Amino acid sequence: MSQERWIITIDGPAGVGKSTVARMLAQRLDAVFLDTGATYRAVTLAALQKGIDLLDPQAVGRLMDNTDLQFSHANGIMAVIVDGIDVTAAIRDPAVTEQVRHIASAPPLRARLVQLQRAFAARFDRVVTEGRDQGTVVFPDARFKFFLKADAAERARRRYDELKAAGKEVDLQVLLEQIKRRDESDVNRSVGPLRPAAGAVTIDTTDIDAAAVVDKMLALIKTASLKRAPNTPFPLRGTGPCQGESNK
Ligand code: DC
Repeated sequence: MSQERWIITIDGPAGVGKSTVARMLAQRLDAVFLDTGATYRAVTLAALQKGIDLLDPQAVGRLMDNTDLQFSHANGIMAVIVDGIDVTAAIRDPAVTEQVRHIASAPPLRARLVQLQRAFAARFDRVVTEGRDQGTVVFPDARFKFFLKADAAERARRRYDELKAAGKEVDLQVLLEQIKRRDESDVNRSVGPLRPAAGAVTIDTTDIDAAAVVDKMLALIKTASLKRAPNTPFPLRGTGPCQGESNK
């Protein structure tokens, strides 16, 4: 396997399909998938389980000091282990989804989770990461940066279909309200707010499925690679996980 190291970032709002796209892109490029939302979810779950006040960053910080958070990569998914227990599924619980914004909007907690995300990425040669601030804050020197967007109504409809398929009864209108609330919290927080990174390519996914988004990304990556170094196959020669030029 090539020893070249690179990171591709995918940012965007809730329900836009980042995880699916990032997982598929990572698979196509033989890279590791980093789901950064899972890091915020893991802390939220631990706090809920231990009865810690999510609005008290100091208390949550102490909880983090005393909690073993492990993130590992296996068969294309990111497994989350909290104090030795596999919580990969539990962190998707609606109660966690509802509360996670408190952790995401606390600057000192974000700083710690950003370190954790960088430490995870440093363990691998090729990483496709997804979140809200990956291209702007966490990996500003990533090789390629993407920003996904889609109409809120379409994102709510996708969540509705997913939950329905999982046998859950949900109200489309309630989902839409939740999506709008999360957008507001993601866009307006003081640290790591949701916005396209400089040099990021924005793709509107409202009318295209995940496979089409991935094809588009691969085509853009290939074109950019060819433009920059004719006859050099992707990935381009780089000097480290965070050293490549951004996609201008
Ligand atoms: O993508 P997700 O639904 O798993 O994200 C969970 C929460 O974490 C969501 O409220 C946004 C926040 N988040 C963030 O602030 N920064 C990231 N890089 C990833 C997620």
